[in-house]
Order: sequence, then C-alpha cells, then structure tokens
Amino acid sequence: MTRIVYVNGDYLPETEAKVSIFDRGFLMADGVYEVTTVIDGKLIDFDGHFTRLERSLNELDIANPMDRDAWLDVHRELVAQNGIELGMVYLQVTRGAPGDRDFIFPDPETTTPTVVLFTQSNAALVESPKAKKGIKVVTIDDLRWGRRDIKTVQLLYPSMGKMMALKQGADDAWMVQDGAITEGTSNNAYIIKDGKIVTRALSNDILHGITRAAVLRFAREAQMQVEERNFTVEEAKSADEAFVTSASTFVMPVVAIDGADLGSGTPGPLATRLREIYLEESRKAAI
Ligand code: PDD
Repeated sequence: MTRIVYVNGDYLPETEAKVSIFDRGFLMADGVYEVTTVIDGKLIDFDGHFTRLERSLNELDIANPMDRDAWLDVHRELVAQNGIELGMVYLQVTRGAPGDRDFIFPDPETTTPTVVLFTQSNAALVESPKAKKGIKVVTIDDLRWGRRDIKTVQLLYPSMGKMMALKQGADDAWMVQDGAITEGTSNNAYIIKDGKIVTRALSNDILHGITRAAVLRFAREAQMQVEERNFTVEEAKSADEAFVTSASTFVMPVVAIDGADLGSGTPGPLATRLREIYLEESRKAAI
C-alpha cells in the first residue's frame, strides 16, 4: 500500500509529494515538528502536542496555519487513509519557501508556512522488546543551541549523539551540561533513588515533554515522590533505577549508564509500573 501523506492542503501518495528546494526548513532548519503516537488507531495526547506546536511556532514568529480542529482532522484522516493501528503521525511546519536564499525572514504576507504530515507504522510500539530488557545510555556533552524548549527540526546533534551511543554498544545518549544531565537525544531523562523520582526542571535547557507532563502527573497521583531539579552524572550512576520518556517510547527503563549497571541491570519496579500506568491511562484518554 502506498503511503498517503499531507502537503499544504493535499493528500497525496508519498511519491507525488513535493516541497521546494528553497524551503527554509530544508535550507535553514527554520521549522518545528511534533510526533503524536497512535494506539488502537487513536491519538495519544493530541491536545498536549497541539499546544506545544502553537508555543513553538509563536516563539519563532511563524503563524499557525491551522486551528486545533483542522489539525485534528488532518491527523485523523491520515491515520484512516493509511490504516494505522500502532504508530505515529509526524507533522512539520516551516517558515515556507521565499524563492531565494536569505537570512532575513520573508514577508509572511507573501511566503506562507509549509505544512507536511506523514504516518509511520510500528507494530512493536507497545509490546517493545527494548522495554522488557531496558536500554543502555552513555553520557555526552550537550552541544545543542540554547532554545531546546522549542521543538525545531535542527536534529543533527541529537542524531550524532545517537550514533556516538551506538558506536559504544549503547542504545542512546544522555546529554550533559555543567556536570548535570539535561535530557536524552530524543527523550526526557529521570533517575530514581530511595523511591524518589528526580528529573530536571523545565527551562530553555530541555524540551517540555508531553509524555513528561503526563508521567509526572500519574506518578504524583500514585503517591510517588517527584523532585524536579538538576542531577549530576555521578548521582545518575548511583541511582536505583532510571528511565526516559517520549511520545514514541512512553516510559522506557534505563539499565546502564556509561557501562555501569543500575541496580540489578534490569528494568526497575517503579519504571515498569509507570510504563503500565502511562499506557493504561493514555489509552483511556486517546481520541
Ligand atoms: N522526541 N526531549 C527531546 C530532545 C525530544 O526530542 C523529545 C521527543 C522529548 C520528549 O517529548 P515528548 O514526550 O513530547 O515526545 C524530550 C520525539 C519523540 C522525536 O523527535 O521523535
């Protein structure tokens, strides 16, 4: 089955979809994106992703090309047309294609944003073999720009970070700034010590994860202790458990940091429980 994608108002087979070579997303990474998970053909936390999209666009002075309901319609239409049961919808909005390369932002009256959405299927999304074993992370310097709260398409360094991890036989990298962990290459990072969940507080240093917000809410509702503060690499290595969260991995246990096993080197009980709660609650609230 040919994948159907969405480009600037049209639903097209992916082979017919076109974006200009002058698009500022392509030339300057001048654009933002969101990834929304699909379970049982329904969208997980759509409103969280829509709200963050609006914020990212606002921070970059790009007009939101659609309102909430129009975005929801396009998401649902793509899920239906591609028969997605388990997977995700990716959306990207760029400042558009002014026709010439120029550092100056184009006039929004004449250059309108480019909107692209597509779906990906992933049968192993929920019953993930990785979640059963846990993942290994290595630490690397955080060399990204200073506005990581904006979900831009500048993903080169996170991509390089993932490759640095793979070369060392690990699954992912946790990034470090001034001795403290910021986040994973494409997820938020947490440690658990003596039953207390610790994760970096929200600021421009990290992406304000939609899964993070949900997981912290569920943790507090389940009477788990949560502390939002910086934590060091040393603290992380001596933690009892660790995990990461993102739309595509939910709650993913971390079992080793820089080659040192955490606890027994298997997914910890609290991370495992949080994954169950997150999946259960998100399924109930999916639209
Ligand atoms: N990444 N931090 C970073 C740097 C991320 O790229 C992501 C998401 C997160 C988690 O955010 P959320 O819970 O809203 O997915 C944190 C997506 C999944 C990606 O790039 O594929």
